[in-house]
Amino acid sequence: MFERPDRGERAILVYTQQGIRQAGSNAEFAELARSAGAIAVCSVRALRQQPHPRYYIGIGKARELAELVADNAADIVLFDRSLSPAQERNLEQIFNCRVLDRTALILDIFAQRARTHEGKLQVELAQLQHLATRLVRGWSHLERQQGGIGLRGPGEKQLELDRRLLGLRIKQIRRRLQKVRQQRCQGRAARRKAELPTVALVGYTNAGKSTLFNALTDAAVLSENQLFATLDPTLRRVTLGNGQAVVLADTVGFISDLPHTLVDAFRATLEEVREADLLLHVVDAADDDRDMRCDDVMLVLREIGAEEVPQLLVMNKIDLCNVPPALEMDEHGMPVRVWLSAHTASGLDLLKNALARRCSQERLRGCLKLSSGDARLRSWLHSHGAVLAEEFGDDGEWLLRLDIDAATWRTLARRGGVAAQALVPDRRDDLATRTEAQYNGRLR
Ligand code: GTP
Repeated sequence: MFERPDRGERAILVYTQQGIRQAGSNAEFAELARSAGAIAVCSVRALRQQPHPRYYIGIGKARELAELVADNAADIVLFDRSLSPAQERNLEQIFNCRVLDRTALILDIFAQRARTHEGKLQVELAQLQHLATRLVRGWSHLERQQGGIGLRGPGEKQLELDRRLLGLRIKQIRRRLQKVRQQRCQGRAARRKAELPTVALVGYTNAGKSTLFNALTDAAVLSENQLFATLDPTLRRVTLGNGQAVVLADTVGFISDLPHTLVDAFRATLEEVREADLLLHVVDAADDDRDMRCDDVMLVLREIGAEEVPQLLVMNKIDLCNVPPALEMDEHGMPVRVWLSAHTASGLDLLKNALARRCSQERLRGCLKLSSGDARLRSWLHSHGAVLAEEFGDDGEWLLRLDIDAATWRTLARRGGVAAQALVPDRRDDLATRTEAQYNGRLR
């Protein structure tokens, strides 16, 4: 079998994308390569209408690249998109050096950054899952030699063995992760019991989340001009100006087209985000592509089921774009956007004020469906003056329209044994609007 050379540092970057996002994503890909520790010795554009099934790029281009590899003594060729396992192997044979696609590059960065036990397990799981697809497809030519005396070659045995070992290891990691996650859940439950709202920092990688986290908490979380410097969620208790305490969570940075194996592996960590009471969506205000980055973050939030968690936008790095610190409110006087610099701390007081207001006054308006068994919760809601209207539904359920502050809702829902998400807020998302419209139609 073809032996892969060891991973090296001198890299050739291959850009295959075109379209409006090209400039931004090329810069981002170069940044990814740098974050992985590669030194880009040259970059090549290889646009194609139709990807070549064997090499992705054309064979002529592949030979041209092989010459570049030799001339520049490159150790590795990095592709800015996903390659099939076969394309990766074929290219490696032509270049005689290692080829990595975007997914593998991101996995590699995550592997270098993982610090905690859970983070390491999650990355290993993602890597093994990635490897499993390569293994299966990479050996598929041998798989065809199914059964038959004398036809069961060593290749198939090896494949079975590798698969079994991989499967065992994946199972083992899943079991360990389960244990760590239980502990994490217990931690979350304790926090809920203590009635501390959780505020999670989210944002595109390198937006400045860790810098802001440190500025708000005086903690010393690793903040570097490197993508995904923070991988494991870090939690700190912060007391705001009005004496209100919140738990602040710094989380992994997002990136467009985050590899699916990673999203899956990090689902549990990202639960900190889904379960948060408020998201501080940190945006690099000096980034030309900031709107697209915001959309990318929203996509990931949707993917992990966190799009309904209320957000406060933080436009960071104003020192780089000459914008004064500012606080923007919505029509109800609620803070929605803060312009600040986590680096110089200008505008930080505005954020603290905004946080205090949002955390103490976060009100929820929305619809709730309760079964006849939830009578106690219904009566609590009435006694807290939270019910605007209600109707007895056809299926024997109660349809309630509520206006309640978020902390009281969390307490009552927990006591009543109902998920906090059961209250469908009057906000954005189609589903919520539809459900609301449905309920509105039925409520007097
Ligand atoms: P990930 O861990 O990749 O998600 O990154 P992050 O969002 O936590 O970003 P981090 O705080 O590590 O900051 C990234 C880079 O931006 C660092 O070099 C910071 O020094 C820089 N930075 C953060 N905030 C500011 C700011 O307000 N102004 C300026 N000029 N630089 C900043």
